[in-house]
Amino acid sequence: MRILVLNGSARPDGGTAAMVAAFARGARSAGHDVDVLDIARMDIHGCLGCEYCHARGNGSCVQRDDMDEVYPLWDAADMIVIASPIYYGSFSGQMHCLIHRTYAGGIPKRCTKMALLLCSGARGVYDNAEGIYHGFLQGYFGAEDCGVFEATTGEATSERMAERLQEFGERI
Ligand SMILES: Cc1cc2nc3c(=O)[nH]c(=O)nc-3n(C[C@H](O)[C@H](O)[C@H](O)COP(=O)(O)O)c2cc1C
Repeated sequence: MRILVLNGSARPDGGTAAMVAAFARGARSAGHDVDVLDIARMDIHGCLGCEYCHARGNGSCVQRDDMDEVYPLWDAADMIVIASPIYYGSFSGQMHCLIHRTYAGGIPKRCTKMALLLCSGARGVYDNAEGIYHGFLQGYFGAEDCGVFEATTGEATSERMAERLQEFGERI
């Protein structure tokens, strides 16, 4: 299975990165082809709302930036994993930009499975991000929700979480 993991954290040693690394390790050991994109290190602008994509662009965005690298992987993936820190009760700004830019092409072509990895400073702050995931991504795509993992920074970098996510990757 081809898996695309979108990491929305800018911190290479943060909790989200640790969760992503454990999941990717497990999935790769099970033979899956895993692409991890550190989107906070990519040049991805916000949607302009120009509707070029739907009016004249035939599903392609008018902007040329690193989304050109994301779109083919988005459409090739059998599974998409959204991983993000919680900022102001939702995804990171970089993740919001990426999600908005997928408006151009719409539903990913092959994706039948999804998962969500969230890392936060406090507990119980995940409702908005989960609502976007279930309402506008996994649910809207008709993809199976394979799991939602939530962790504070300390939990995300713990051995226990690494084991849980590696095992999740292995059995996906
Ligand atoms: C701009 C900003 C906004 C944040 N907002 C929240 C928040 O609303 N709720 C919360 O629990 N933690 C919040 N945090 C804390 C982060 O979620 C926490 O540091 C988390 O570990 C970040 O993930 P990372 O380690 O992968 O970078 C915020 C941090 C930043 C920098």
